[in-house]
Amino acid sequence: MRLRVLAVFLSAVQLGLLSTSLQAAPLTGEQLYDVACRACHSLGTAPDHRVGPPLDGLLNRQAGTVDGYQFSEALRTSGWVWRLPTLLAWLTDPDAAIPNNAMNYVNPLTAEETQRLSEWLLQQP
Ligand code: HEC
Repeated sequence: MRLRVLAVFLSAVQLGLLSTSLQAAPLTGEQLYDVACRACHSLGTAPDHRVGPPLDGLLNRQAGTVDGYQFSEALRTSGWVWRLPTLLAWLTDPDAAIPNNAMNYVNPLTAEETQRLSEWLLQQP
């Protein structure tokens, strides 16, 4: 009997949690960046060189050109320029976009989240 009450109580808690998470506001571009990119990339006025190159001032930047960062040859010679379509293609499937690149990354975000993150990222000075 006790166990049954507990089970009902627990499932009510689970339902409560579920409906809260369904109502939660979607993550902002900045929050998505923190979740998916920040471990390897830096942003801002004093970029440090982490695993990946700094990503500030990305809009219209030629791929593979940050001074002092060792890019793969694939990225350096890609001829890509970072704008919304190129960034989306890169984040959707880096290996298809620029084969032999060195960004070992499987994007965990949905297409919609990737778009939101990309729009935010391209606005960062
Ligand atoms: C596991 C580490 C890692 C994660 C996580 C990661 N990256 Fe990268 N990223 C790299 C590396 C390494 C490179 C350099 C690739 C090369 O030289 O081929 C790179 C390169 C890039 C470039 C090219 C920059 C330039 O100057 O040409 C962009 C743009 C980029 N990443 C965006 C992102 C975004 C946005 C995210 C998050 C959604 C992300 N990356 C997540 C490691 C990572």
